[in-house]
Amino acid sequence: MAKIIGGLGTSHIPAIGGAIHKGLQQDPYWKPFFDGFPPIHEWLKAQKPDVMVIFYNDHGLNFFLDKMPTFAVGAAPQYVNSDEGWGIPSLEPLRGEVDLSWQIINHLVDKEFDVTTCQELLVDHACSLPLKLFYPEGNYPVTVVPVCINTVQFPLPKAHRVYAFGRAVGEAVAAWDSSKKVAFIASGGLSHQLEGTRAGFINKDFDLKFMESLLSNPEWATQFSIHELVEKTGTQGIELLAWLAMRAALTVGDQPGVRKVHSNYHIPISNTATGLLALEKVS
Ligand code: DHB
Ligand code: FE
Repeated sequence: MAKIIGGLGTSHIPAIGGAIHKGLQQDPYWKPFFDGFPPIHEWLKAQKPDVMVIFYNDHGLNFFLDKMPTFAVGAAPQYVNSDEGWGIPSLEPLRGEVDLSWQIINHLVDKEFDVTTCQELLVDHACSLPLKLFYPEGNYPVTVVPVCINTVQFPLPKAHRVYAFGRAVGEAVAAWDSSKKVAFIASGGLSHQLEGTRAGFINKDFDLKFMESLLSNPEWATQFSIHELVEKTGTQGIELLAWLAMRAALTVGDQPGVRKVHSNYHIPISNTATGLLALEKVS
């Protein structure tokens, strides 16, 4: 059976792609953000995952407002990044892990999560940037399964539902007949709001409580309704649903425990409170 090694959570912001492109990692504005990543690089070098299952939200590159699946799973041999209009260069395509995609899709449907299956899928900054941050040298040594959760157009799935969904994805991976090592990625959050009268809204207290809860009480955030979470984290802060799915995916098996490898929190990058977290599954 496949081995689940852990999970990584990171914020995604198009401007990060621009900073990488311009080599600004040591610039005083960017340094506190990029300085969070070397411990993750070390962990990945030691753990050597083969596959990453990426929980993220699409922002209108592949799914637009006319067709918006609540949950979608990629089942393609390759996922291409494309111009999203942010003026940043496209990142390299991601290689798919098709066998695991179908394992996850079959298990999810069996568990009554009626997902959209995507044999073609463009991936935006939310799916492509984390890999560039985790493997800055490029030529990524992992294949991927993108798992997209709608956080952009109401109605959004409840936190409680996303937690159950993430757990079902974890079950599917744990039952995958493969000797490969799998890590989960959560891409999104933490608190931010890009538009309206609360544009620029950030909630450090809530963000830190949320990050801590993923260690001590992973279901903590499921007590809140979507509207409460938007109120606490902003209209885009609700992207934290991806982190909840990632954490839930780590609860499968006899040993639901995780240990914290590393975390970082820095305000702001663009309009966003950035979080970074690496959790290793305790076996
Ligand atoms: C920003 C944050 C996001 O999550 C996103 O998808 C786009 C932009 C920002 O802070 O600029
Ligand atoms: Fe986003």
